[in-house]
Amino acid sequence: CNGLPSSLKPRAPAMTGSPNRPKNREPVLILGGGLIGLAIAHQLARRGRCVQVLSRRRSEAAGFVAAGMLAPHAEGLSGNLLALAQTSLERIPAWVAQIEADSALACGLRPCGIVVPFRSSAERDAYPTAAWGEPLGRAALEREIAGIGPSWRAGLLFSQDGQIDNRRQLMRALERACVALGVGFQEGAEVLAIECGGGGALAAIRLRTAAGEQQRLPCAEAVLACGAWSAQLLPQLPVFPLKGQMLSLQAPRQALKRVIFGPGTYLVPRADGLLVVGATSEPEAGFSEGLTPAGQRQLQEGLEALLPEAAGWPPMERWWGFRPCTPDQGPLLGESGIRGLWLATGHHRNGVLLAAITAELVAGEICGSAKAEDRALLEPWGWGRFQS
Ligand code: GLY
Repeated sequence: CNGLPSSLKPRAPAMTGSPNRPKNREPVLILGGGLIGLAIAHQLARRGRCVQVLSRRRSEAAGFVAAGMLAPHAEGLSGNLLALAQTSLERIPAWVAQIEADSALACGLRPCGIVVPFRSSAERDAYPTAAWGEPLGRAALEREIAGIGPSWRAGLLFSQDGQIDNRRQLMRALERACVALGVGFQEGAEVLAIECGGGGALAAIRLRTAAGEQQRLPCAEAVLACGAWSAQLLPQLPVFPLKGQMLSLQAPRQALKRVIFGPGTYLVPRADGLLVVGATSEPEAGFSEGLTPAGQRQLQEGLEALLPEAAGWPPMERWWGFRPCTPDQGPLLGESGIRGLWLATGHHRNGVLLAAITAELVAGEICGSAKAEDRALLEPWGWGRFQS
């Protein structure tokens, strides 16, 4: 963090934090170089903190795998999770503007709206977030989605929902923004263990470097943001993988102006016509890697039911990844029970959507600068809810 050219120094004024917290020169270690880890690293750096990201393999991060939907309403969220997700959605434009300013790269944010199609108007009206959407009959659905399959008779248009090009733009921009603010990276660094000292405080992180060397990094503050792998470091954490397979096609540019969020399959059109098709949900798959014929068939059938003409568009890529899940499908955020170790994991299907609010809440807590309204938003997501 020292000796940076002034153009690369943190732009935001350093926050002081509470008197009991370590001095700001001591680095916060971020365990995990995925979207959530990077987003927190970025916010900490903007608050003047020195930050080191330890990343095992950047390509396995869910942030590179997801479709990038910003869809609290289309996903039919409810309760505290809907409130958290709606707040994140509201803050995303400002968050993206920060990343774009710090990185000089575009993030690919598209507030394009999302259409959820239904087989009947009764199904549509029973959708948990129906009150936030514009109800569509068949004719209006056809106007929104030219060529939509014949079995869809009704829809909801959530014009406030959208997407961001996480895989090709956001992740790179965020990495670049972190580097520009002086965040250090160790790629290929596998965290092996978290060491506690006296009084239940974090003492050190043990890791294996990309060169195979074992290291012990003494530290007083760290954030566990290891996604689906989080329980490998803290086995008591109720976080498990939910495998998803995806594919992409090259559609004609402007073939689809909105995201379509169907049951079991969604289509996310990028600005250049790339169509991202997701995603399977395979709770039994554990960490089993690779594509399966059944998973790919499910996507193909879902695609053709939603948009029959897409069957003729050329395939581009196929991939898979692991969502980090918790038993109630909400994230695990905040203190861990080890003083100085913070949790930011378990974002299930909503990691891209929740990255903005997660970064702000967790960085605010670490720096002791969180506003009361943000602390209230964080409160439902502690580990304690699974420990009673
Ligand atoms: N956010 C959609 C999914 O996880 O498939």
